[in-house]
Amino acid sequence: MLAGVADQLVISEEDRPWTVDELERNVRGFDAVLCMLHDPIDLRVLQAANGCRIFANMAVGFNNIDVVEATKLGIMVTNTPGVLTEATADLAWALILAVARRVADGDRVMRAQEFPGWGPNYLLGGDVTGRTLGLVGPGRIAQAVARRSVGFEMPLVYSGRRQSPTLEALGARWLELDELMAESDFISLHVPLTPETTHLIDARRLGLMKPSAYLINTARGPVVDETALVSALKSHRIAGAGLDVYEREPAMAEGLAGCLNAVLLPHLGSATLQTRSNMSRIAAENIIAALNGDRPANLINPDALPGTGLPDILP
Ligand code: DGY
Repeated sequence: MLAGVADQLVISEEDRPWTVDELERNVRGFDAVLCMLHDPIDLRVLQAANGCRIFANMAVGFNNIDVVEATKLGIMVTNTPGVLTEATADLAWALILAVARRVADGDRVMRAQEFPGWGPNYLLGGDVTGRTLGLVGPGRIAQAVARRSVGFEMPLVYSGRRQSPTLEALGARWLELDELMAESDFISLHVPLTPETTHLIDARRLGLMKPSAYLINTARGPVVDETALVSALKSHRIAGAGLDVYEREPAMAEGLAGCLNAVLLPHLGSATLQTRSNMSRIAAENIIAALNGDRPANLINPDALPGTGLPDILP
């Protein structure tokens, strides 16, 4: 986290997220705060930041910030959309291929010097080409994942509150989520974390999946009931999962680490040098705009601006 007072810039020296207590202590008196997706910016922190003009999140997701309370307090909140779309879609594809073709299993075997030699049934995985890809959420990252699927000749289905002309132009069919869960061979999650999407993929929906199907999550951990997922993986109720995000990040649900039919990554979706540089530049530009009295390009809560009345954003 990084914050600034007038001409003073303070950067957290600690290579770990701050707790709410630490944030509450450390945000006092600053005009702007550049925060990360793991910083819990709740009412206490926002109240402590009394007088602060902007919390600029260095992420596209902003579920870590209580935007309703920030808006009531007249504090602007911004994110960094767009610049991480392609990197995150690439990583979703890395997980699709890795879990289906047992890339991590193969790597483990080689490092342990346990490769017994080629065998007709050795480390068999699942096909990708021609299999149905289900996208949960029709947004930018889902669309980028869909574009990459064209070379794999995958029938596309998607779910979401709105239909997407972009996805339909790629041949995607809109389905109710339950139908998508049952029809897809790969299910890739691309919804923001909200109260409505928390545990969207629960035990019941995992139970709708084909036993040969894979779940991919590069969105937010709490979208999946991780304990239910561990049961589904352990019992081989589903073929596997590729996860970049976790319900209680950085912790994992008990038993998940032992599920060798899951490929597990430490939230690397946007982790390329270019993407992270762009994210930090955009967060800084949002702060500069706010401090100059301009409207930041990626303002999430325009109702926080003076004279715009009460917030009309969703809780
Ligand atoms: C985001 O920006 O929300 C991503 O999860 C970062 O990797």
